[in-house]
Amino acid sequence: MIAETHTQSTTAAPAVETVVEVRNLVVGTATARLVDGVSFTVPSGRTVALVGESGAGKSVSARALMGLLPAGVEVLGGEILVNGRDVSRFNPRQWRSVRGRELSMVFQNPLRSLNPTMRVGAQIAEAVRLYDPKLGRAGERARVLELLEQVRIPDPERRLFEYPHQLSGGMRQRVVIAIALASNPRVLIADEPTTALDVTTQAQILDLLDTLQAENGMSIVLVTHDIRVAEERAHEVIVMYSGRIAETGRIGDVVRSPMMPYTRALIAAVPSFDVTPRSLLPTIPGRPPHPSQRSAGCAFAPRCPLAEARCDLAIPDVTSRPGNNGTRQQWRCFVTGKTDQPGPTGQAGASEEGEKA
Ligand SMILES: Nc1ncnc2c1ncn2[C@@H]1O[C@H](COP(=O)(O)OP(=O)(O)OP(=O)(O)O)[C@@H](O)[C@H]1O
Ligand code: SF4
Ligand SMILES: [Mg+2]
Repeated sequence: MIAETHTQSTTAAPAVETVVEVRNLVVGTATARLVDGVSFTVPSGRTVALVGESGAGKSVSARALMGLLPAGVEVLGGEILVNGRDVSRFNPRQWRSVRGRELSMVFQNPLRSLNPTMRVGAQIAEAVRLYDPKLGRAGERARVLELLEQVRIPDPERRLFEYPHQLSGGMRQRVVIAIALASNPRVLIADEPTTALDVTTQAQILDLLDTLQAENGMSIVLVTHDIRVAEERAHEVIVMYSGRIAETGRIGDVVRSPMMPYTRALIAAVPSFDVTPRSLLPTIPGRPPHPSQRSAGCAFAPRCPLAEARCDLAIPDVTSRPGNNGTRQQWRCFVTGKTDQPGPTGQAGASEEGEKA
């Protein structure tokens, strides 16, 4: 996991531009480092999944990227570079020039972010006006309809005048995504965008995000507790545990050959995955420690079947090995961290069959 002096990142192939680079980010309260030395990059036009159990620090990390941390939680260290500019200490006025225009977010529990007393069209129009105040009424209406079409809402002219309660969960989620797209962001952060939805609707919403990415080339930071979703939808993955990064890399490399025992446990807990270390940890007993109660060592130690005495004493350094497409798979573990050999799929320049292109 991340020590402050180390940078761990999912290194993209050289041709892919980096839109966001998070360096050694520490976010916390007066008593706890909720996000502790996290580093990763978001390449242009790619999907990066933030994966981990409840309390891993996914939402706090995502909110830090948007400059929207809850009261009492602040950036304590590190940098958030958006197009090369460090935004981590921006004041509210400065954030307004970044938020929306560069990054936009679909929040966890998105259905709550709609106003139940306002018609859908008016809510999208508000977002449109915020980023394009000179459009005028006709232009605004045209843009709202365009956004409704973009998120594949049937019969958009009629939907304009409906209230959120008149829409299904999937349709409401599409409206929330339309609001997030109103500013034409380069990066869309989607925090558990499908949690409250049934399986079929989940797939439809994730398909929609894929389609939007293909159409407009935006990057997506997909926050999910489900590594299967990451496997199907992301190019790269950041596995988080108790506010720190456990493992990063190209999704195919990590899923086929996970190195950090926590990642192995996550994958082994998914019945459909067929990976070598499946027998290691069929389930993950116990819970992650609260960030205020982590030991000085590896936070996974109390649950890890491979733990040794040294695991409680210090945080392991980063180990890495070549992955596909010029990426590196990186993890922190004393016991599984002794190799710099390519993984079974690690061949620079190669792309994996079945992996998101
Ligand atoms: N406003 C806050 N004040 C204090 N601690 C907080 C606050 N918000 C979150 N935390 C703590 O920060 C840690 C990370 O929380 P976070 O919401 O990022 O988890 P998560 O990975 O998004 O989990 P989930 O899957 O449940 O959404 C947790 O221990 C949580 O209790
Ligand atoms: S073996 Fe040690 S360092 Fe590796 S994950 Fe387990 S507890 Fe952490
Ligand atoms: Mg969350």
